[in-house]
Amino acid sequence: MLNKKTLVANWKMNGDKELITQFNEILNNQTLKHDVIVCPSFVHLPFFHPLSFKIGAQDCDFHEKGAFTGSISPVMLKEIGATYVIIGHSERRVQHFETNRVIQKKEEAAHNAGLIPIVCIGETQEDYTNKKTFDVLKKQLIESTNQFTSTIIAYEPIWAIGTGLAPHIDEIKNTLSFIKNIFPNNQVIYGGSVSLDNIQQILAHELVDGCLIGGASLNANTFLDMINAV
Ligand code: PGA
Repeated sequence: MLNKKTLVANWKMNGDKELITQFNEILNNQTLKHDVIVCPSFVHLPFFHPLSFKIGAQDCDFHEKGAFTGSISPVMLKEIGATYVIIGHSERRVQHFETNRVIQKKEEAAHNAGLIPIVCIGETQEDYTNKKTFDVLKKQLIESTNQFTSTIIAYEPIWAIGTGLAPHIDEIKNTLSFIKNIFPNNQVIYGGSVSLDNIQQILAHELVDGCLIGGASLNANTFLDMINAV
């Protein structure tokens, strides 16, 4: 029996209407055997016509509405057709100074709005070198979630994001098993330099519930090949 996985495309601040057209045409033409979620920028969300896949946002505010210039609420995302939202990506944590507490509030707001939060956690290169990974992840897990079982946990070592340096599969397995010991009822996915070359090996393990894919998701055909790789 097929072990269904969750594959999330994180476009970050990339993509245009032409790429969206390709995704709409190429993905909708298929019966996808996994749960596929495409997360473009906020402004691109309305241009998707997802039939075989779902759409999600890359962030949200934790307020429902009000005087928060430039922010987007989970309720607005839900209204526009998003079903998922990435929260606490390391680029938000670092570039926008988001704390565990802020991420926890966003997760709660997203959950209350009926979205499925994808909460990212991950250690820095320094944490990894100093063998602090499990301490860091445990703190992030406890402080940046509300322990909703519907939340998807995305383990993304910061040193692996966009570097082409994914951890060895044994390390991914060890870390996911550590996370699942704390959150046994949540889906846990892996992200960081997932490519057409390594996705099969990563997804082959039963502990890995899916992948969060950045750079390699920016080509519709490559992304489809990745979905079909397992
Ligand atoms: P990458 O990004 O696949 O380009 O490494 C993953 C992410 O940041 O979600």
